[in-house]
Amino acid sequence: ALTTNTCIVIGGASGDLAKKKTFPALFGLYQNGFLPEGIRIIGYARSKMDKDTREDKRWTNATPPSRCRRAVGAGGKGWEATSEPHVKMTRRECVTDDPRAGFTARPLLQDFHSRVSQYIKTPIPALKEKLKEFLERCTYISGQYDQDDGFVELEKELKRCEETFEDKKSPNNRVFYMALPPSVFTVVAANFKKHNYSKDGINRIIVEKPFGKDLESSREMQEGLKKEWKEEEIFRIDHYLGKEMVKNLLVLRFANVMLDASFNKNLISNVQITFKEPFGTEGRGGYFDEFGIIRDVMQNHLLQVLSILTMERPVSFSSEDIRDEKVKVLRYIPEIKMDDVLLGQYVGNGDKPGYLDDETVPKGSICPTFAACVVHINSPRWEGVPFILKAGKALNEQKAEVRIQYKDTTSGIFSDITRNELVIRVQPNEAVYLKMNSKAPGLAMRTVPTEMDLTYKRRFSDLKIPEAYEALILDAFKGDHSNFVRDDELDIAWKLFTPILHEIENDKPKPESYEYGSRGPAALDDFIAKKVGYKRSEAPYTWPSTSVL
Ligand code: BG6
Repeated sequence: ALTTNTCIVIGGASGDLAKKKTFPALFGLYQNGFLPEGIRIIGYARSKMDKDTREDKRWTNATPPSRCRRAVGAGGKGWEATSEPHVKMTRRECVTDDPRAGFTARPLLQDFHSRVSQYIKTPIPALKEKLKEFLERCTYISGQYDQDDGFVELEKELKRCEETFEDKKSPNNRVFYMALPPSVFTVVAANFKKHNYSKDGINRIIVEKPFGKDLESSREMQEGLKKEWKEEEIFRIDHYLGKEMVKNLLVLRFANVMLDASFNKNLISNVQITFKEPFGTEGRGGYFDEFGIIRDVMQNHLLQVLSILTMERPVSFSSEDIRDEKVKVLRYIPEIKMDDVLLGQYVGNGDKPGYLDDETVPKGSICPTFAACVVHINSPRWEGVPFILKAGKALNEQKAEVRIQYKDTTSGIFSDITRNELVIRVQPNEAVYLKMNSKAPGLAMRTVPTEMDLTYKRRFSDLKIPEAYEALILDAFKGDHSNFVRDDELDIAWKLFTPILHEIENDKPKPESYEYGSRGPAALDDFIAKKVGYKRSEAPYTWPSTSVL
């Protein structure tokens, strides 16, 4: 584990992902004391974010001293060495045009700091103070992705940061976080390796999807990456693996004899893994259109959930044992056929715009914003059980869940009673509940659908569920690969989906329309009934948790 002497470089630090996820997660960890002591965070991206950066003449003729401050009695213009680390300097303290000052101050970081803290919440004053302290550890270098200069500057900044480490004996470790578009991914990974790799310390590289667009491009990308980085240094993020409830799947299954024993084709009728978002691609239309919902959510997030849900018990909790089992179960899945897929695209509902109304989306695009897809696992445990993956944007609610529907009770004393369902609610409002029939209290012999309910908010006091990115970044610092995607796992995930992705691109099937805010295409229920035999429970059953809370 990395506990001291660590710098983390955020490639693509001026982008959306860095601002919305990476920096808030780093701050979350920092504020709780989970980052290596003395951590330094360096943003790297193309944007020139501050006026007074290295390019500004005032700062060009010398390297920034690591220690300096305004000298007392020099009319406010002179400077002198100090034992305070330079990161403590504020904008006012740094600015000088006076050549007699004899040094160049470090770049000002206001734009960068305000950008990366936009999504960081500081509801209480103590957190505001913490944030200030955190930002003092965050610096920024702007540079091109495909030229050496920027990375040379970055190297200087890394060295400057490393000078501030108290422990001078231990080697310096470097973590590189790639919050970058796929077009520059390989070249940046190569440049980090060439210019910024720590010779004696530990190096790690954290990478983010999209890992290519199909099997071929993914392999190309992985080969590019592997030329420079060893598999043990690579941490491929699928942020669903950092979600509390996804992490709980292993425990729910293998720490509960009764659940484990029921997870098989004899008892389970079908399984649905659902991802719903109540908003469209607003603002991301350009990116989304190139990928579509299958690549955006299904091939990665939902397939990851499927593999953990269905894998055999791993030999141990070690990352390789877990990932071996995940890969094994994925290998039992035959290639997905177009006939097993339903595609949809949202249209406006009078109030909210349709997908094609987005100006960044090409006219007449057939890009699916909704997909339902039936998958089979031809293993002894699961053969014959249909798994349906469903994902959509601009639907009626926000929800990610796994719904395992058991078979009907054998007929005899009961007819037409609700099937048992085990629901694992990933978000929002984490919960596990088992729909079960009970005798309706009273003198009559009647059954009523009820539930056994583990709603986190009710069950666990002082509940603090970490953000997925916090959990994953911490794992990467610890060197634990369990919740990261291995190369063979990625390969097989692409293998499963590439044929239908190509078919969609070549044959251009028109997706079924559904209204913004609806449950999805009208054909969905029939599709599921036909393919899966799923029975929607009769009214009036609704899971009560959300209304109680
Ligand atoms: C991302 C997708 O990977 O996951 C987005 O690119 C999607 O389109 C997001 O909105 C969902 O993540 P979460 O954590 O909000 O469920």
